[in-house]
Amino acid sequence: MELCSITGLKGKITVPGDKSISHRCVMFGSVAKGTTEVHHFLKGADCLATIRCMRTLGIDIEEKGSSVIIHGKGLHGLSAPSGILDAGNSGTTTRLLSGILAGQTFDSKISGDESLNSRPMKRIITPLTQMGAHISSILRNGCAPLYITPGELHGIHYNSPVASAQVKSCILLAGLYAEGETSVTEPSLSRNHTELMLKEFGADIRSSYSLDSTEATASIRPCEELYGQKITVPGDISSAAYFIAAGLIVPDSEILIEGVGINPTRAGILKVCEDMGGDITLLNERIEGGEKIADILVRTSRLHGTEISGDIIPTLIDEIPVIAVMAATAEGTTVIKDAAELKVKETDRIETVTDNLKAMGCDVTPTDDGMIIRGGRPLKGASIHTLLDHRIAMAFSIAALTAEGNTKILDSRCIDVSYPDFYDTFDALL
Ligand code: S3P
Repeated sequence: MELCSITGLKGKITVPGDKSISHRCVMFGSVAKGTTEVHHFLKGADCLATIRCMRTLGIDIEEKGSSVIIHGKGLHGLSAPSGILDAGNSGTTTRLLSGILAGQTFDSKISGDESLNSRPMKRIITPLTQMGAHISSILRNGCAPLYITPGELHGIHYNSPVASAQVKSCILLAGLYAEGETSVTEPSLSRNHTELMLKEFGADIRSSYSLDSTEATASIRPCEELYGQKITVPGDISSAAYFIAAGLIVPDSEILIEGVGINPTRAGILKVCEDMGGDITLLNERIEGGEKIADILVRTSRLHGTEISGDIIPTLIDEIPVIAVMAATAEGTTVIKDAAELKVKETDRIETVTDNLKAMGCDVTPTDDGMIIRGGRPLKGASIHTLLDHRIAMAFSIAALTAEGNTKILDSRCIDVSYPDFYDTFDALL
C-alpha cells in the first residue's frame, strides 16, 4: 500500500468488533450449553482462527455476515481434534484455548505461523503444569507447537509475574475444569473481558482489586455448566486508536467514531491523548453486556510529549505503536517505560516501531522497556517494514498521512489479522 499526506479527515465511522471479546465469545460459547448468538463479530484472521479451532473440536458454528452463531455443547462436549489445531498468528487463540484443552479427556496439539511459534508459552505452561495439566512445548523451546494430554486439574493460587490477560484467562479457563478454587494475582490489572463475560455465561467467578497496591486478583470455581448468551460486540478501541490518532494529527479533521468499547482496562489511550493535549470528547456513554461503550469525537489538536509508564501500560499495550506515531508528531519528548512486553508481541515492537520511526526521520531511542521519542521533526515518507505485524502496518499508515512524500507499507495485507476493512474505513473519511 502506498500513501501520502492529506488534510481534512471528516465524518462518522464505526470500527469492527473488539478482537479480545470476539475470541472469547466463540470459545466460551463453544463450551456453554445452548446457542450463543454474536453480533458485530470481528471477522479478522485471528478470530477466524479461533472459529476454525473450535470447529476442529467438533463445534458447529454458523457465520452470517458479521454475526456468528455457536452451537455450544457444554463444558464436556468438545471432541478430539482430527489434526493439529491451527491458531495462525493468534496468541489469544493459543493461550486461552490451551487453558480449555488442559481440562479435556483427549490429546491435542496447537500450533501457528512463524511469528506465533516464536512467542513465549512458558508463561502458560508453568501455571498449567502447577495445576496438574500435561502440556509441553514439542520443540522444547518454550514455544508452540504445544502438546496437551489429559491431566487431573486442581486449583492453585498463581502469582503471575506479568500483567497479561492471556495468561490470566488461560488459568481461569483451566480453573473451570479444576477441583477447588483457582485464582490469579497479577501485578496490575490487565483487560478483564474474561471475568466480565464468564460471569454473564454463569461461571462462579470473582475479581478483587487491593486498595493498598495495584495488584488484582481473579478467582474461579468450577460450575455445572455455562449457558449460551446473546452478545453484541463493542467496537474495538485498539482499531479505533488509528482513527483517534489520525483525527488528532491530520490537519483540519473531525471524526466521530461510534460504539467503541471503553472498558477502563482497555482505554489507556484516551488518558494519554488527553495528557498530550488531544481534543477528545466521549458522547453517549452506556453499558452493554457488562462493557462500557461510548461514541468518541476527535478533532485536530496541537499535541505535546508526555510520560507513559506504570499501571497504565497494560491498558494500552496494543496501542503503543500508534501512540509512538502521535508522539513523533508532537512537540517535545515522550518517554514510554515499563513496556518490556512489547518485545513479545507479534514482532518485537520496541524494535519495529523505533526502526520504522527512524526511517521516517524521527529522533527516537529504543530502551529495554520502551522508547524515548523526541517529537516535532517533520516526518518523511519511507518504506515501512511491517515484518507482517498488523499493528505496525496500521500505525505507520497513520504516520504516512502527515509525512512529506510517499510512504510504502510493505506486506500491508497483514492488516487482515485484526482489521480487514481498515483502508475502506479511511476512504469513508476523505
Ligand atoms: C489480549 C491480551 C494482550 C493483548 C492481545 C490480546 C487478550 O496480550 O496484547 O492483543 O485478548 O487477552 P497479553 O495477555 O500477552 O498482554
